[in-house]
Amino acid sequence: MGLCPFHNEKTPSFSVSASKGIYKCFGCGKGGDVVNFIMEHEHYNYVEALRYLAKKFNIEIREEEGTAEHILEHNEKESLYNISQFAQKYFSDCLHNHNEGKAVGLSYFIERELNDESIEKFQLGYCLDSWNEFTTNALKNGYSIDYLIKSGLTVERPGGDHFDRFRGRVIFPIHNLSGKVIAFAGRILKKDPNKPKYINSPENDIYNKSKVLYGLFFAKNTIVKENNCYLVEGYTDVISLFQNGIQNVVASSGTSLTVDQIRLIKRFTNHITILFDGDEAGLKASFRGIDLILEQGMNVNVVLLPANEDPDSFARKYRTAEIKDFIVKNSRDFIRFKTGLLIEEVKNDPVKKTALIHEVVSSISLIPNEIKRGEYIKVCAQLVDVDEQALIYELNRELRKRFKKRSDKIARIDDPVQDEYTTVQQIEYKTDDSEYHESEIIRLILNYGNEKLVFENENEFGHIETSSISVAGFIINDLRHDEIVFETSIYRHIYEEIVQNYEVDVLKIGSQYFTSHSDPQISKVAIELLSKQHELSENWLKNKIYVNCEKDILKEVIISSVLALKAKKISKDLNLILKKIKNSNNVEEQLKYLKEHSYLKEILMEINKILGRIISQ
Ligand code: UTP
Ligand code: MN
Repeated sequence: MGLCPFHNEKTPSFSVSASKGIYKCFGCGKGGDVVNFIMEHEHYNYVEALRYLAKKFNIEIREEEGTAEHILEHNEKESLYNISQFAQKYFSDCLHNHNEGKAVGLSYFIERELNDESIEKFQLGYCLDSWNEFTTNALKNGYSIDYLIKSGLTVERPGGDHFDRFRGRVIFPIHNLSGKVIAFAGRILKKDPNKPKYINSPENDIYNKSKVLYGLFFAKNTIVKENNCYLVEGYTDVISLFQNGIQNVVASSGTSLTVDQIRLIKRFTNHITILFDGDEAGLKASFRGIDLILEQGMNVNVVLLPANEDPDSFARKYRTAEIKDFIVKNSRDFIRFKTGLLIEEVKNDPVKKTALIHEVVSSISLIPNEIKRGEYIKVCAQLVDVDEQALIYELNRELRKRFKKRSDKIARIDDPVQDEYTTVQQIEYKTDDSEYHESEIIRLILNYGNEKLVFENENEFGHIETSSISVAGFIINDLRHDEIVFETSIYRHIYEEIVQNYEVDVLKIGSQYFTSHSDPQISKVAIELLSKQHELSENWLKNKIYVNCEKDILKEVIISSVLALKAKKISKDLNLILKKIKNSNNVEEQLKYLKEHSYLKEILMEINKILGRIISQ
């Protein structure tokens, strides 16, 4: 047991079972196998996680050859990553080891109070103020001019000669989620009205501007821990805050947030706090963008920085504790904030008031959660001093309008594949009251499948003979004998696979096989079942106080679980027969059903008797 890396806690609720190869947090509910842990923790996809593990343990991965197209695309990306990495190292080297770099670039960062650690961490650099020093160097190192141009590091003039894009600028590399450099921003050093302050790499196979947030790679773990992400505008804002103790911060890089960027944040937290500087006009201009965040079901807070401070200057002026204190004290829920800001203009102008209500309700209507919408309507009614009912009316109108727009769109799409998918999904999740008993059977097989059960039988000569069978074997034979079929589809799938594996390869019924199953739904269920802190039922406890764990009374547990499942099935059949009897008006038929009924009823009573005996033995 240890402290969970996925949520903040003071007492450990995160358990790891080395023998089962799984982890489970009883606090936040996260659980999985080794690969899944790396995926969750490093935010990798499956393949990335495997590569990471393979590298860590020096395991060679042999990859199947893809299609020619695939290989080409892969190579293209790899080449761009390689060039970017080379450029980053080159620019850093200029910053630290070249006279011009030191005199111009490094002294600029120092003047802005960035320390060595930040410069190192964010891999800042400098591009010499020369026509094509970088390009020449890259070519000398074997990088091709085609990829240099594709990466945007080199610009080709119509005449055919080449020059460096970032000449005479300090360099901010932009990283993807796994920390690879995918693009650069270069900041000018002297104010020049004829040149842009920043220039950026163009988009290409590895860099899609609207799907990247500056700083996210460095911030992601703290975002998860703090369950909040601060949003600022600029590169320097991120670095400055980071250096001064606020590490869950990312930048939109001066443009308004895209839905893709919001979803990126949503992978790590549901809470965004926007740090605002600037005037009211700028504030209002950003309201539309914030609506997008609400629409994603996220919670938005805003913090207004003191006048004439941007996050960068603010972070430098105060100590960490002061910064955090200010943020906490000045953090406002966005809807309240927006309402408060607009209300100041309204005064007693009824026309303006109507417009305000419309404005605010329109934001509220974007929130997917109905309960949250209701709460905001209440808050807003109070703030604006209007009847709640009137706001609800307005809200419903807004929702209807949006619903109509959406259903028009869906009608136009008319996608049969989507349809089939939905139907299949519905079947998948159907469960009923046998579910618990079925899950118990699976749980027992996963936990103890290869354990031996020993039975003693009297043979024809009156002698006691012992025989043994594995738990899995016993259950499979017994259920097969009575033709029991699992009703809950996920357990049926797992059970069928257990039966198949049992016949082919006994090892495959071990838990490992299922916890790292290729179907994520199956592995999830397997992990849940394996890490269930199993509590013996009250009856077990009452009568067998000396029993410490299930394993001590495995045989009884297994037999009673199998019988309990059968009892459940029989009860269901009995109900069915009763219904048939009621619906039939043919006496002969009714009699036949009645016979069936009493036969099954007897078996049920017998089972219940055995169950009672086992439990109260
Ligand atoms: P700012 O002008 O606030 O820049 O633009 P900054 O990052 O705070 O830079 P300093 O403090 O003056 O050094 C905010 C962000 O807008 C984008 C950049 O991402 C910048 O960080 N931007 C700005 C550009 O992409 N190009 C520009 O010409 C200006
Ligand atoms: Mn700035």
